[in-house]
Formats: sequence, structure tokens, C-alpha cells
Amino acid sequence: MPQLIDESTLKEVAQFIEEAVGIIYEGNNLFQLEKRIPEMMWAAGALSPKDLVARLERGLDRNCRQAILDIATNNETLFFRDERVFSALKEVLIPTLWARHPHVRIWSSCCSTGQEVYSLAIISEEVLEKMSSGFRYSIVASDVSERALVAARNGRYSQLQVERGLSGQRLEKYFVLEQDERWSIHPKIKRNIEFKLCNLLEASQSSDQFDLVLCRNMLIYQRPENRKRIVNKLVKHLKPEGYLLVGGSESLLGLSDELKMESLAGTIVYKKEN
Ligand SMILES: C[S@@+](CC[C@H](N)C(=O)[O-])C[C@H]1O[C@@H](n2cnc3c(N)ncnc32)[C@H](O)[C@@H]1O
Repeated sequence: MPQLIDESTLKEVAQFIEEAVGIIYEGNNLFQLEKRIPEMMWAAGALSPKDLVARLERGLDRNCRQAILDIATNNETLFFRDERVFSALKEVLIPTLWARHPHVRIWSSCCSTGQEVYSLAIISEEVLEKMSSGFRYSIVASDVSERALVAARNGRYSQLQVERGLSGQRLEKYFVLEQDERWSIHPKIKRNIEFKLCNLLEASQSSDQFDLVLCRNMLIYQRPENRKRIVNKLVKHLKPEGYLLVGGSESLLGLSDELKMESLAGTIVYKKEN
């Protein structure tokens, strides 16, 4: 593929993105950014890549800036991503949390278009079915991409999307096929979820405390110093003995003194020490 945009322009856009959300575009990855430049230009009303950089430097209004950041994020996700993690959640983690407290609070901190959060809610419902009444759960689902968050809140998925990770049984039980051939998550599942725009690199406005926090497949795109910053922020929102889960290729070794690594049902989890 020929280089269409000069490297110094790409690097300036990359710098803007990294300062805003921490995502690194460098080396071979610059090509991934290059593919997104036309859409960014359109969002910013820019006439050329250089004009885009000039507009980024002058400062964009809130909606335009958000649109550029939405385009910069990689929202790849699927239902029940990493089956082992979700079976550990169902068999061990969530029952353990309910044994401690009747109301389990969960934060899916980079939820993308919602597949992770609905997988969590489905698992919680499945555990609840086997329990006596009086137990409940609530989930905060957040992401830095407003576009992804709108899709998550809508909870409507194409056939292709539901085929990525959902069993036929779960699809039947928790989704409704709409006239436009899209599958909508059942309102019963949505009612326990609150959606919020949140940049994990920014200081927290809330003092919410959670039993379980997920930050999966996001830290790999960040520099080590930002990983540390994000993990420390997540730890502040974890209750003592609460659990933090990251992606299969991510490790929190050396990032926080407050977390202890454990292997639970074949899955690595991080537990906040008292
Ligand atoms: C690859 S997706 C992973 C989605 C889901 N957690 C999973 O594992 O399937 C990464 C998500 O992290 C979000 N993200 C990137 N930087 C972020 C930041 N600074 N704060 C919050 N979310 C961020 C992106 O918008 C994207 O939706």
C-alpha cells in the first residue's frame, strides 16, 4: 500500500490522540492511523491531512474532538470473549462475590460496543436463576468512545455480531429479533446497566466502589506509564478483596502494590489486598 500521507503529518495526529486517550500509533501501526485520516478529515471539516493537523492544533469544539477520538479507538470485541474467563466468572467469581454481599457491583471500564457488558449481565442472570431471591447486581459500562457507547446503550446487533460468541440458546433467551433483522438485547438485561462516557486517563469524578472491575484488551495499546496510571485509578474504585480482570495478553506485574495475582478456575485474576 503506498504511503499517501506524509509521515510527519501522521505523527502529529498520532501525538494528539496519544495525549487525549493514550492510544499509541507508531511504527507499523501508523498505517492503521493513516486509514482513518479521511474519516477524521470529514469529521473535522478539514480539506487535507495538513489542514486536519492545523485544526487539531487550533482546538476543536467538543463534538468534533469527540468524533476524532471515536475514530481513533479500536473497538474490536465479541460476546463472551475468552470463554475461560466467563466460565470462571460464572462458576467461581460472581458466586464468591454474592456470598460476601447481596448486591454485587461491577464496572466494565472499556466496554466498547457492549458485548462484554451484556455477556457479564447474562452470566449474572444465569447465576441468579439458581439462587434465592434478595440478591442483585448492577453494572457500570464505560468507554472513551461515545460512538461505541451509543451502540452499547442501544444493544442492537447484526447477525454477524451475535454469531461471534453467543450460543443459540443464549441468543433465543436474551435477545429479540427485530423487523430490521437486528437482534435487540432484552430490556430485562439492560435495566441493571448504567452507561457512562469515561476516559480512564482522566481523574475520577466519582467515588463509586466495585466488587469486580474489567479492563480487558485496552492496556496493550497504552505506554507503560499510562498503564500504571490507569491501573491505579481502577484499584481506587475496587473494594478491598475486589477483583480486577484484564485481557489474556495483558499483565499487571509491577503496576500496583495493592494487587495480588491469583489463578482461579484456570484464569488469572488480580485481587485487591486489604
Ligand atoms: C479492543 S476494545 C476492548 C473491548 C472489550 N473490553 C473486550 O475486551 O472485548 C478497547 C476499548 O478501549 C477503549 N479505550 C481506549 N482508550 C481508552 C481510554 N483512555 N479510556 C477508556 N476507554 C478507552 C476503546 O474505545 C475500545 O472500545
